[in-house]
Amino acid sequence: MRIAMIGLGTVGAGLARLIDAQGPRLREQTGRSFELAAVLVRDPRKPREAPLPPGCVVTADPEAFFAAASGATADVLVEVAGGAAPGRGFALRALRAGMHLVTANKAMLAAHGAEVAAAAQQAGRELFFEASVCGGVPVVAALARAVPPADRTGLLGVVNGTCNFILSAMAERGTPYASALAEAQRLGYAEADPTFDVSGRDSAEKLAILASLAAGRAIQADWVATTGITGVTPAHLAEARAHRCAVRLIAAARIDGPRAALRVGPAFTPLDHPLGRLSGPQNGLAVRAEPMGEVFLSGPGAGAGPTASAVLSDLRLLGSGGPGTPFPTTTASRADITPLEEPGGGIRWLSGDGR
Ligand SMILES: NC(=O)c1ccc[n+]([C@@H]2O[C@H](COP(=O)([O-])OP(=O)(O)OC[C@H]3O[C@@H](n4cnc5c(N)ncnc54)[C@H](OP(=O)(O)O)[C@@H]3O)[C@@H](O)[C@H]2O)c1
Repeated sequence: MRIAMIGLGTVGAGLARLIDAQGPRLREQTGRSFELAAVLVRDPRKPREAPLPPGCVVTADPEAFFAAASGATADVLVEVAGGAAPGRGFALRALRAGMHLVTANKAMLAAHGAEVAAAAQQAGRELFFEASVCGGVPVVAALARAVPPADRTGLLGVVNGTCNFILSAMAERGTPYASALAEAQRLGYAEADPTFDVSGRDSAEKLAILASLAAGRAIQADWVATTGITGVTPAHLAEARAHRCAVRLIAAARIDGPRAALRVGPAFTPLDHPLGRLSGPQNGLAVRAEPMGEVFLSGPGAGAGPTASAVLSDLRLLGSGGPGTPFPTTTASRADITPLEEPGGGIRWLSGDGR
């Protein structure tokens, strides 16, 4: 399988290393070889720890990139760059050129997912996006493939590793907010612009994608009532401790027929709740649906290894001829989306955070 890739940062370089290390095993499993044919970056002179095969074109010029991809008859575009608007343009261009799409770009999906899914359908190409939510935890596969459709679905998650790392470091080690954020960035957990993490926007994008899968209609991140963690104080952490709780950035949704209530915000989370026990960059998601009951998934939600592994697992599915992940091609009505009042599960939103 010939791969054209946009982005050679944390996730892209991680994927290049995985393909290099696991090439023979992938060939055994799928009967196909996996090779990077062209890579688009912003600055091709930047030094990188990414093993690229000889002949792989590395360029900052999108025209040269798409020409190289088409010259090499690339089967798939892997988009691990980010950004809603460039991501949309790259995705539509690749699909129309006959490539499948594997993307980690949550911002693009949370704003333009329905349009891109419709374009994939029209082009007869597959769309995969496991890496866009919770890195190495297969929450997209669980919601899109394993959880049966239900009229009522509840989602309750900690979906941002950077915020959970910061909140854990502040509560467990007494680390000041700014030092905890710098440490998260050093370890590769933070988004390129950490404002997306700490403002709650990153969680809102992930919640929008998960809620879209559960609702069967695309829900946009802009519609999610969102508060970040910058207002969390040592006093909140002490109050949480006094009530046997942790402060967690909770992403919660309740989907009821055509209506959906969603919110992202810091919340007192009981330590006997699985989300209260998640520490460091761990992510977790509880999915409740009738008559299934509740399923809880947790694991490493960010970083090069987990996220690149999720991309590689999509590529392996594609290489084995598996169908893509169904994303709704129609958008929900804005009037049906409201802010979620209470998350449930004994979890309470922090007071004094602007609500
Ligand atoms: N890091 C994670 O743990 C994680 C987890 C889940 C999902 N994701 C998603 O994965 C994607 C990549 O994240 P990352 O952490 O790998 O980001 P990153 O380290 O900042 O890397 C981004 C890469 O994309 C390139 N790039 C950015 N904009 C571009 C453009 N317009 N044209 C061409 N190249 C462009 C950059 O080029 P230069 O290197 O030349 O600057 C860089 O190589 C994002 O959508 C992110 O939301 C990341």
